[in-house]
Amino acid sequence: MQVILRQLGDCIIRRCDLADIIPIMEINMKTLPEHYSDYFYESLLAELPEAFLVGEIQGIPVGYIMCKTEYGFSNFKKLGFVKKGHIVSIAVLEGHRQKGIGKAIVEEALKGVKSKKCDELYLEVRCSNTGGVKLYENLGFIIKQRLKVYYRDGEDAFLMAIEFHY
Ligand SMILES: CC(C)(COP(=O)(O)OP(=O)(O)OC[C@H]1O[C@@H](n2cnc3c(N)ncnc32)[C@H](O)[C@@H]1OP(=O)(O)O)[C@@H](O)C(=O)NCCC(=O)NCCS
Repeated sequence: MQVILRQLGDCIIRRCDLADIIPIMEINMKTLPEHYSDYFYESLLAELPEAFLVGEIQGIPVGYIMCKTEYGFSNFKKLGFVKKGHIVSIAVLEGHRQKGIGKAIVEEALKGVKSKKCDELYLEVRCSNTGGVKLYENLGFIIKQRLKVYYRDGEDAFLMAIEFHY
């Protein structure tokens, strides 16, 4: 049975199911230049279902977020080795933007990542993606680094991160 994490008007936020992978791949194809194999989506769903979420309107996915966990150097503590959540991909279909769905799925994914006792959550975002940067800043993420020529087309990324205190 599907558990509704949050309801925003006619949009529900819930965990992803295997059956959502194809529609999510379609949203990804329409919204982002970075694409992945179905195996990759399935492996992230198996690894961190708590933070692989969909926004659905009348039974149709309109947005998603998928994350993974990693161990590595902290973005906050010098030489600290920590457990980090990583937002791998997030998108909302164009016709459904600016209604709070993106913010809600990131907030619910934050809870999912925290439930796995991660110390931090980070992501990469195109430097030109002012809407994305604003979304994350409003949620408490901080720009920690500029990653030069991060994307295939040569654009730089901001690495943004948030630290958790339990
Ligand atoms: C980034 C994205 C997921 C935001 O989704 P959304 O559902 O439109 O976001 P929300 O409506 O929840 O917006 C939340 C906040 O983000 C900011 N924001 C979102 N889109 C914005 C835009 N185009 N311009 C300025 N600020 C924007 C605002 O601060 C907004 O808060 P506000 O409404 O109180 O001002 C969506 O634009 C998208 O899918 N873009 C294409 C894919 C992408 O860029 N993914 C992120 C890669 S890291």
